[in-house]
Amino acid sequence: MAGTSAFLDKVYEADGGESMRRYYNDWADIYDADLRENDYRTPARCAAALARHLTDGDAPILDFACGTGLSGVALKEAGFTTIDGTDISEGMLEKARAKGAYRELFRAEPDTVLDTGDRQYMGVTAVGAIGAGAAPAGNIDGAIASLAPGGVFVVSLNDHTLEDPQFEARLNRAIADGRVEKIMAEDGQHLPAIGLGARVWAVRRL
Ligand SMILES: C[S@@+](CC[C@H](N)C(=O)[O-])C[C@H]1O[C@@H](n2cnc3c(N)ncnc32)[C@H](O)[C@@H]1O
Repeated sequence: MAGTSAFLDKVYEADGGESMRRYYNDWADIYDADLRENDYRTPARCAAALARHLTDGDAPILDFACGTGLSGVALKEAGFTTIDGTDISEGMLEKARAKGAYRELFRAEPDTVLDTGDRQYMGVTAVGAIGAGAAPAGNIDGAIASLAPGGVFVVSLNDHTLEDPQFEARLNRAIADGRVEKIMAEDGQHLPAIGLGARVWAVRRL
């Protein structure tokens, strides 16, 4: 029977910075079991969305806030072969490393915004990665800036996150500024066992 662990119960209230890093380090050992138990749908939804709009499976992609790698495994299963991952939590990254889905994994600092420098990706995913209980909204702009022209950004925003307008406002501003064009925004299940949904957005860098 599905249930929620103390970690899943409290995550949407977790603070940012070092306390967020500690939260996920402490959760890492049982994260996969918790999410599996609650029928976590978003990795497969996001991977399918990326595969629909980025047909070159060998193109380099970045899985932002990759956690234990559930999102990387879904991307691999959708046909992607060249996946980098980044996360603030070494505990989560260690689990991701063990899954063997990633080319490179690197640790990020909690209070900085994603910046991949000269390295640009044809796809960036943020699966359960931005919003309440995860990384701050500024990373939406960081992810868009990490794309090569024509590259696709797929981001899920769960129901808690959608209550705060700043997240979708970032996407809408990027569209209005001409940095990206909207491809889709599709509502569906996130963690059905606890009745939580998520909207999956995809935008293309212009
Ligand atoms: C709910 S998990 C999602 C992990 C994975 N994408 C998945 O689908 O299972 C959120 C992840 O965001 C990471 N995170 C939180 N704040 C972050 C930040 N500022 N930069 C990068 N990762 C961050 C956490 O360490 C955690 O692994």
